Order: sequence, then C-alpha cells, then structure tokens
Amino acid sequence: MRGGTEMDYSFPEGFLWGAASSATQTEGASQEGGKAQNIWDYWYTIEPEKFFHEVGPGTASDFYHQFKTDVQRMADIGMNSFRTSLSWARLIPDGRNVNPEAVQFYQSLIDELLEKGIRPIINLYHFDMPLHLQEKGGWESREVVEAYVHYAKEAFRLFGGQVKDWTTFNEPIVPVEMGYLNHYHYPCVVDMKRAVQVAFHSMLASAKAIEQYRKLGHDGKVGIILNLTPSYPRSDNEADEKAAETADLFFNRSFLDPSVLGRYPEELTALLNQHHMLPHYVEGDMETIASHTVDFLGVNYYQPRRVQAKEHPVSNPTLPEHFFDPYVWPERRMNPYRGWEIYEKGLYDIALNIKDHYNNIPWYVAENGMGVSDEERFMDEDGMIHDDYRIEFLEEHLKWLHKGIKEGSNCYGFHMWTFVDNWSWLNAYKNRYGFYRVDVETQQRSLKKSGHWFKEVSRNNGF
Ligand code: BG6
Repeated sequence: MRGGTEMDYSFPEGFLWGAASSATQTEGASQEGGKAQNIWDYWYTIEPEKFFHEVGPGTASDFYHQFKTDVQRMADIGMNSFRTSLSWARLIPDGRNVNPEAVQFYQSLIDELLEKGIRPIINLYHFDMPLHLQEKGGWESREVVEAYVHYAKEAFRLFGGQVKDWTTFNEPIVPVEMGYLNHYHYPCVVDMKRAVQVAFHSMLASAKAIEQYRKLGHDGKVGIILNLTPSYPRSDNEADEKAAETADLFFNRSFLDPSVLGRYPEELTALLNQHHMLPHYVEGDMETIASHTVDFLGVNYYQPRRVQAKEHPVSNPTLPEHFFDPYVWPERRMNPYRGWEIYEKGLYDIALNIKDHYNNIPWYVAENGMGVSDEERFMDEDGMIHDDYRIEFLEEHLKWLHKGIKEGSNCYGFHMWTFVDNWSWLNAYKNRYGFYRVDVETQQRSLKKSGHWFKEVSRNNGF
C-alpha cells in the first residue's frame, strides 16, 4: 500500500482521534501529593544505572503540574480522546484508604478533559505496582489481586459517573515477560511457572474488576488493552507454522481468549500441563473469568513477531523461547531510529483476526507510534522537529487500518503513542514518540510537524 494512487481514507463517523500515555510515564511528582512509592520509584533508588542516562520517574513530563495547559494543547491539535492511567500508588497509597489529594488531581484532570470535549479513557494498571504490594508478592499473590479489586472499585465509584470508558490493564504480558521471564523489569525474575501465575492472576484481577464495574451499575464500558503481536512463521511448513501458533498462544491468546471469549485456549492449557506449569487456582476462578468478559478491546501495535521451528529442540523447555526460534525475515524494514520492525499490514491482520475470531468485538487502537532516538537532529532553527518519518509511519498504518474497517472490522478509534514525549521505563527519554517535544531540562513543550498533520487528520476525519 505504499506509493499507490491517491485514495480517500475517511474513517467512520465519530471516530476517536486521540493519543495515549500513562500515569508513571507523564505525571512526575512521584514524591508529592501523598503518593506512595511504586516499583519504579523504588527500583530507581537502588539501581539508577539501569535507567537510560540515569533518569528516573521523579519528574517525567511534569503532567501533574502542567495538566491544564497540556489538555489545552491536546485540544489545539484536535484530539477528541485521551487515554491514560491512574496511579494506584497515588490513589490508594496504603492499599486501603483513598488519598484525597489524588482524588482532587484526577477529578480536575477529568473535568478539564470533558470541558474541552476530549473523551477520557482511563486505565487502571500500566506496569506500576505499589511497592508495598510488590513486597507482598505482587501479581503472584491473591491478596494483591484483592487489593487491586478494591482499588478498581474505588476508582469506578469516584470517577465512574463521568468516565464512561475504562480498561483494567495495559499490556499485561509486559510485566510477565519483562519481570518474570527475561530479567528486564523489576522484580527481575526468570521463572516460567511464576510468570504463568502472574499472567493468570492478571486475568483473574481483570475479570473481578469487570464484575465490580457491572455491580455498580454505571452506564459505561470496560475493556482491556493488549499489545497484539501477530506471529508469522518463516514458511508454511508444518513445524514453522506450529512454532508461530505456539508464540501466538503464549504472547497473544493467553490474554485475548480469556478477556474476550472467557476461556483459555485448550492447546495452551495442554502445553502448560504437559510441562507442569499450570497456575494455581481455586474453585470459581474459571467461572469468574467466563462470566466477566470485556465490552471492548484496546490494541497496542508496534511490530510483529517472526518465528521458525526450533533448530535444536530443548528436551525440557522452561521458557517460551525454548519452544521456537526467532526468525529474521530478509525483507523486513526496520525503524532506523528505534530498531523495531515496521510492518503496517500487521494492523490489518489484527483487525481481521478480531473480526473473524473474536466476535467482531468493538475495538480501538490504543497505541501505535514511532520511537526516535536523538530526535533533536531533526529540529530546525525555530525549534520545530520535522518528523516526516512519523507522519509516513502513521499514515501507512492508518491505511491498513482503514482497509480492515472497510472489510467489516469494528474499530472505532486510533490513539497515537504519545501526546508529549514521555518517560519510558528503562529507556527513560531515549526514544521520543510525542506530537509535542519535551525539553527535559526546562519541561517546555514544542509542537512537532506531526502535531500539525494530526490536527488536519482529526478535522477531516481521515486524510
Ligand atoms: C509500549 C508501552 O509497549 O511501548 C509504553 O505500553 C512504552 O509504556 C512504549 O513507553 C514505548 O517503548 P520504548 O521502549 O520504545 O520507549
């Protein structure tokens, strides 16, 4: 779909044109307003050298203080939707009692968004476990699942009158993969059995939060945000296809199936059982998951996964990579400034997969965007970043999304990652994604060329 004839890419009426971010990545004020430490605040205090340029989450993009002007900036570029998260450690610092300063902050943010005609989409968990709950075992612990359900209930009670779009988790695979499989995020464990437990408890927590939401009788909707990575095999030989199916089971279907269909894929259960890795669960858990599926899906898409059959099969596999090998597709195009594969058609494949295999559930793109390191090299003398690469990236993805919608997929919005450059975990400010550039020293914002482009797209409901 590159370099083709001019076409009209108009999107369905009422389409959401927004951007996404998360509490820990934007708010800053990590020691202010009664907030408790989360695992990121804590980890930075003990191992700052792990973070790019030793920049921790303390200030982020200062959204806690600048949210009013930032919401105005959102309106200035035509955003009609903004998805972010609440900080659990800010709202319920001791695990039990609501922090009034946090309520005031989030209430003002929601008011500000609504006043400017921007739909708030509020997520409950974006990688940021409160430290004291991590010390109780984090997602491995049922007590923490119950603490999360309490937090969810309080959030719905406090803000559910105004906020009509909720999500329970963002990318629940990430804490599993990074925190319990590859030693990359705190608590830096490498243990597949524990990882499976964390994954299962996230799904259970999500279902229990949905149960609470429905009990409260609010008239909104509750969903989940998953980063779907379409898995493509090296070839159509049976072993390669099997490898791709296994990768899909672990990284996509272990969350997609319980969230949307209310059940785990039988192939996944059989595989885990065969390798003695089934999670611990109690009577009633599977019924809870079965009866509290999501109303909609948020989908984050950056890159696909390419795999091939294992060259040297492992006799006693204990990690996902023991089941398949990565495959380097010779034709792949890489983002030269970030290092992820760019494959726009992946978004179309996701759109059709949701339509054909997941009840054509309503969904929106919850994140898509292009990370760029050293982005100041594209700055002109007036301080504007000329990010034509980002505009092209977004347009090409939107074209494939448009095709998916035309073929019947029920997608109702697109959120760019992200509104302002923000702090990104261990990568801190290495890769910039925003429509607005942030000068980390002064916290000043400046609009990039892509921000101007987005304004037109939103105004025309397409391009
Ligand atoms: C997404 C996460 O997967 O990737 C975000 O939801 C994250 O939290 C984003 O910031 C970009 O990651 P990176 O490593 O390129 O900064």
